Amino acid sequence: MKTRITELFGIEHPIIQGGMHYVGFAELAAAVSNAGGLGIITGLTQKTPELLANEIRRCREMTAKPFGVNLTFLPALATPDYPGYIRAIIDGGVKIVETAGNNPQKYLPTLKDAGITVIHKCTSVRHSLKAQSIGCDAVSVDGFECGGHPGEDDIPNFILLPRAAESLTIPFAASGGMADGRSLVAALALGADGINMGTRFIATKEAPVHDRVKQALVDATELDTRLVMRPLRNTERVLNNAAVERVLAKERALGSAITFGDISEELAGVYPRILQQGDLDAGVWSCGMVAGLIHDVPTVRELIDRIMAEADAIIRGRLAGALA
Ligand SMILES: Cc1cc2nc3c(=O)[nH]c(=O)nc-3n(C[C@H](O)[C@H](O)[C@H](O)COP(=O)(O)O)c2cc1C
Repeated sequence: MKTRITELFGIEHPIIQGGMHYVGFAELAAAVSNAGGLGIITGLTQKTPELLANEIRRCREMTAKPFGVNLTFLPALATPDYPGYIRAIIDGGVKIVETAGNNPQKYLPTLKDAGITVIHKCTSVRHSLKAQSIGCDAVSVDGFECGGHPGEDDIPNFILLPRAAESLTIPFAASGGMADGRSLVAALALGADGINMGTRFIATKEAPVHDRVKQALVDATELDTRLVMRPLRNTERVLNNAAVERVLAKERALGSAITFGDISEELAGVYPRILQQGDLDAGVWSCGMVAGLIHDVPTVRELIDRIMAEADAIIRGRLAGALA
């Protein structure tokens, strides 16, 4: 399939694996890129720029295909060494960066001067237009369904994607709720040039997370996510568990007086325990409503081949048939 996203990134299929904290290691990024999609290493999961440089080297040993690095600008207790991470990306010869969380304008000249293609992930048309105006090459448009941070507008993709299509001139990927060939065809129909998937890629053989995490996604339904940190205007969609219930109880009790410190026990530094050790209730972890569409744990190649075969069958079969 050829779209503006496959052309921009030099990839075979219009499928991107969004950066995911403690999931986007070299193994997953390389598997996605080898299967013809765009794999992305999560920059900040590597504690230092030197470790990111090493992760980039490891990824390059596993794939000769293009891959990217995610740089997330979210509120953090200590500001990461972004210039250091960017140096590691440039020195490592990576030509694609996914930015997210905040306006990347400050770092854009350095990235563009190094010949890097930047796809910015955002959750609204106005942020997408801003990204376009400052020189981003593409955007991922994350609907309210998405795992992680859906923003504060609560606009689902059935509205957000066609709104993006009528406003943007740069290519964009539909993100949030994407799982299969139906998602891809629907995203293309709504005006997107491809899809960006997070949660679905966690339930794959190559995702370097504990088997209990993958099984939790297979077991979960579309009813099992919750939104935390709404009062802090840092909303995150997560899989419900005991820690999430505690956070929501504190949010109800403290109302607008709540601070990050009140819930840091459930949030700060919990990802390694959950994703690597499989201690699922150790804290709060991102998950999309799309969990309801995840029923198996295929290899990345099986997943991507299946998505493309399903999309082909829908376009040539059901859709063409409806016109016949
Ligand atoms: C466990 C997990 C961790 C994530 N971590 C990040 C991150 O560190 N940076 C980022 O930009 N997006 C992050 N995301 C968001 C994904 O890149 C992607 O935008 C989102 O998952 C898309 O929605 P979906 O889960 O419905 O596919 C994360 C998502 C999940 C599920």
